[in-house]
Amino acid sequence: MNASAQRRVAILISGGGSNMLALLRSMTGDHPARPCLVLSNDPQAAGLARARALGVPVAAVDHRPFGRDRAAFEAAVLPHLQAARADIIALAGFMRVLTADFVGRYTGRMLNIHPSLLPKYPGLNTHARAIAAGDAEAGCTVHEVTAELDAGPILGQARVPVLPGDSAQTLAARVLEQEHRLYPAVLRRFAAGDRTPVFL
Ligand code: GAR
Repeated sequence: MNASAQRRVAILISGGGSNMLALLRSMTGDHPARPCLVLSNDPQAAGLARARALGVPVAAVDHRPFGRDRAAFEAAVLPHLQAARADIIALAGFMRVLTADFVGRYTGRMLNIHPSLLPKYPGLNTHARAIAAGDAEAGCTVHEVTAELDAGPILGQARVPVLPGDSAQTLAARVLEQEHRLYPAVLRRFAAGDRTPVFL
């Protein structure tokens, strides 16, 4: 695919960025997208150095000085996404809730990965909640981001068994392995304009 036809992907992170790395590593060869920016709300996020080491432009906008003013934080983030000419926004362990106004700017162009089989367990502590409920299966979901938290159209899911003796940590590790398979598979399809869900 020629470079001008490739979609430009900005990845938003808050932490180690293992999903971000999986996405970055996938965007080579005939992939219909290329990374244009990795941005974190935490200037100390380990993922920033990892992205930089791969030659990807990085930026940080610390959310803390903005307090509860989400719109002001987003107003500081937006120029970075615009300067990078991002076509697609991939949230990858980005732990800030976004306003409806911000999400609306990227309708149909913003993805998120969530560590549960949505619509089960939106929000936090997904693995502990799956174990406490006695679920036989857990997993992860990639979905389009809409104004309602973790509720947009599902673009893919991967499932794992919950094993006897699992803790939230052991289950999280098993799910995370699948996240690293699922998110690149969904992004590849999505960037090519195909929203058919991927089930692994
Ligand atoms: C991942 O498990 C991701 O699904 C989760 O945070 C982790 C980030 O890990 N995201 C959420 O909980 C979003 N609400 P990573 O930084 O290694 O990709």
